[in-house]
Amino acid sequence: MRIGILGTGNMAEALGTQWAGAGHQVLFGGRSPERARALAARACGKAGTLREAASFGDAVLLALPHEAVAGTLRELGAADGALHDRLLIDCTNAVGPGFRLTTEGGPGAARAIADATGARVIKAFNHLPDTVWRLTPPAFADGPVAVPLCGDDEEALRTVAALVRDLGCAPLRAGGLDRAAYLEATTAFLIGLWHSGHDPRTLLPPFEAATA
Ligand SMILES: NC(=O)c1ccc[n+]([C@@H]2O[C@H](COP(=O)([O-])OP(=O)(O)OC[C@H]3O[C@@H](n4cnc5c(N)ncnc54)[C@H](OP(=O)(O)O)[C@@H]3O)[C@@H](O)[C@H]2O)c1
Repeated sequence: MRIGILGTGNMAEALGTQWAGAGHQVLFGGRSPERARALAARACGKAGTLREAASFGDAVLLALPHEAVAGTLRELGAADGALHDRLLIDCTNAVGPGFRLTTEGGPGAARAIADATGARVIKAFNHLPDTVWRLTPPAFADGPVAVPLCGDDEEALRTVAALVRDLGCAPLRAGGLDRAAYLEATTAFLIGLWHSGHDPRTLLPPFEAATA
């Protein structure tokens, strides 16, 4: 598969390196050509501009800070349909000071991106830090990491599920794009707990106990 990545930071590197290692063609697009080239060299991918990444291949990973997303999409011509119908994977977290969602009171990040682009948006990979996505494979003692996917387009969901399996993780269908805001809020909650030194895994009962 051909995968364009918008961004050359931590998430771009963590996921792009894994996908390149799994045999996909990955193009890293950044505002800095030097950083894109350096990352492409490390990850065995190609380097390009944000515009080139947005139009590259079968899927595009949006790996930019939330506050940079709207402006970047405008520059890419989203309003003129440049990303219409493209498969866009949104791993962003709109988490501001106090671990509050900066999207509070409005549509969630993934919904806003879908509305701005007309892309087939799948929310995924936002719920864990890049250090986990760099593990080969991302797994803990009780098995591979489960990756919640929220989206409305069946073909896009199947494609992202395959990319999840390529990491050695387990895709978890978590509902339509209307559920993405809950995943975003859950992640903000988790980040807050981690930063306060708490282990959220201790909050959760075994499945059988929760559903008895
Ligand atoms: N890191 C994590 O553990 C993690 C986990 C889950 C989700 N996320 C989410 O994933 C997204 C990316 O996070 P990250 O950790 O990869 O960030 P990062 O390491 O800071 O990288 C951000 C990338 O976005 C680019 N960028 C920043 N502002 C820009 C602008 N105005 N226009 C164009 N490009 C811009 C940066 O380019 P320059 O290098 O030129 O500055 C860099 O390539 C964020 O939304 C974050 O919340 C992060």
